Amino acid sequence: MAEDVPTDPAGKRRPPQAFLRDATVTDPDLREQFDREWPDCWAETADLLEWDEPYETVLEDDDAPFYRWFVGGRLNAAENCVDRHVDAGRKNQVALRWEGKRGERRSYTYHDLHREGQAVAAALRDLGVEEDDVVTIYLPTVPELPITMLACARIGALHNVVFAGFSPDALVDRMEGTNSSVLVTCDGYFREGTAIGQKRKADAARTSLSESIPTVVVDRLGASHETQLGENQYDYGTLVERFTGREVPPVSRAATDPLFQIHTSGTTGKPERMTHATGGYLAGTTWTTRSVFDLSPGDTYWCTADIGWITGHSYVVYGPLSRGATVVLAEGTLRYADRNRTWNLIERNGVEVFYTTPGLIRTFRKWGTEYPEAHDLSSIRLLGTVGEPIGPDTWDWYYEHVGDEECPIVDTWWQTETGSVLLSTLPGVDEMKPGAVGPPLPGIEAAVVDEHGRELPPGEPGYLTITRPWPSMLVPHDDDRYWLLAEYWEEFSDRRADTWRYFTGDRAVVDEDGYVTVIGRDDDVVTLGNRRLGTAELEAAITAVDGVTEAAAVAGGTDDTELYVFATAERDQPEDDELRAAIRDVVAERVGEFARPAAVVFTPELPETHTGKTMYRVLEGIVDEEPLEESTLLRNPAIVGELSTVWERSD
Ligand code: WTA
Repeated sequence: MAEDVPTDPAGKRRPPQAFLRDATVTDPDLREQFDREWPDCWAETADLLEWDEPYETVLEDDDAPFYRWFVGGRLNAAENCVDRHVDAGRKNQVALRWEGKRGERRSYTYHDLHREGQAVAAALRDLGVEEDDVVTIYLPTVPELPITMLACARIGALHNVVFAGFSPDALVDRMEGTNSSVLVTCDGYFREGTAIGQKRKADAARTSLSESIPTVVVDRLGASHETQLGENQYDYGTLVERFTGREVPPVSRAATDPLFQIHTSGTTGKPERMTHATGGYLAGTTWTTRSVFDLSPGDTYWCTADIGWITGHSYVVYGPLSRGATVVLAEGTLRYADRNRTWNLIERNGVEVFYTTPGLIRTFRKWGTEYPEAHDLSSIRLLGTVGEPIGPDTWDWYYEHVGDEECPIVDTWWQTETGSVLLSTLPGVDEMKPGAVGPPLPGIEAAVVDEHGRELPPGEPGYLTITRPWPSMLVPHDDDRYWLLAEYWEEFSDRRADTWRYFTGDRAVVDEDGYVTVIGRDDDVVTLGNRRLGTAELEAAITAVDGVTEAAAVAGGTDDTELYVFATAERDQPEDDELRAAIRDVVAERVGEFARPAAVVFTPELPETHTGKTMYRVLEGIVDEEPLEESTLLRNPAIVGELSTVWERSD
């Protein structure tokens, strides 16, 4: 089984001519040049930023693997994302174009971001926030979210954005874990037609933390909530009014000073805190926004990720704003919305670069081509995807029906820990191979290794490691050095030789051209009796069955010796025994008779985290008939009840 490679990438595709005409990065020798000049090559990324003081050393490695980038340099992230565009004569260019759940629209120019950002920064200071303090932001997709992030950056405070859908308990954990001194939230927001009481959740968290934590409340629902403000609670609008006009010069931060903290959205549910450093992170996100997403000042761009996750931090806020783009922000989900919403948004705003997840593309595909076809999507010139393997079929659909075969697709591999994209094609240089993310970007070096850390030849799946440091890498903070070492660095490094390899936690395979195909997380395994099976390989075999779109396999039954498969199908309700039989056969064939599934359960959706990763724990709970409590860690908690019912019926 381990030898099975899930995708044999279909035909190569050249970058479309239409795109090449105006592509920003077209130099075929860029990788070689970076290799030749490494690590000084990274100066090219730092040159995209405005520095208060130039750095002295590109890379300092005497405390490896805790590398320090652009040492001696000083800069401010908000100045780079806002002030420099205002100074460059682009103050009236739209920076944020927001569309609310109820059809509301608001635009903010770079001048608006500058004005309101300073007011919020002054207000935070007035509430006692000092440099290096942590501010927790618990907001849905409203413009006040990026504005508050940038206000923190302006005064050198760290933001800690907590996904708005999380429960009060999850908020408490994340506030405690970061030692937050101020909270920014809102009265509520709309989800699937109902108003969610966000402030009520925040208040519940404050009760277990400390009522005295100053809390700023954004008015989203429109009803006056002024009267409901308790002690140490302040209305955002009133604060902005009071502090507008106050000048708050950006605080000059060392490149190695932390910019923010964020928690990974791992399927284990345990929040893991990451810290990113100002200079390296901003250089990495800005450079990849330019070279991978091909964004130049004034381009219109839409990334559908929630700002609460790293994709939103790097590619909704910091990367695109640092490049001076116009960023589209859409409140609410696209998956349960009107099926035309995504395409309407692209059409209305003239979106040029569109970045989303394979999960969402699969949903669009299921809905049918009539929705994208009913819209003029000709403004798009580049498409991106992130978060999980896309697979050649979904890739083809995206290429054909959204990109009209004229837009390159960048399948970007990266992680919360890596801060910015590390593996991807350069759209103006590289051929694309549907299903493979592509080679490492210039300056990045990756290796697929066996359990002893030996590099594997092309075609052999193994563990994906990154073998050289990169600017936007995770940095230590407070007391997490030992944890970071154990979690990411020890497994494949040779400490005595001072050779460090970062372990991504993913399994992957490289082909003869150096293109990487990501298989999936290494920790997603099914143990069937005493055999360990990689879920990713298993699921790839199942989804290769015609008509099956997604699959997840878990063990159950006596001593966990039986395999259970949950699958979604192209058609909505397949009462299709043929499809079930085909799935059973393919598993028995690829893995062995012992693994022939005891049951195949069709479901409209698999339980997922908010970033689209399958929650195996939930499926195991269903098979063991001990369903997990409904959880805000899930994007689609309602599916748990539904699945339990289907499960009972399937007996
Ligand atoms: C997975 C999201 C396949 C991978 C930016 C990684 C991908 C994890 C891809 C990080 C891709 C990300 N193809 N798998 N293009 N991009 N992944 O921290 O397993 O939410 O380790 O960061 O997502 O998820 P995270």
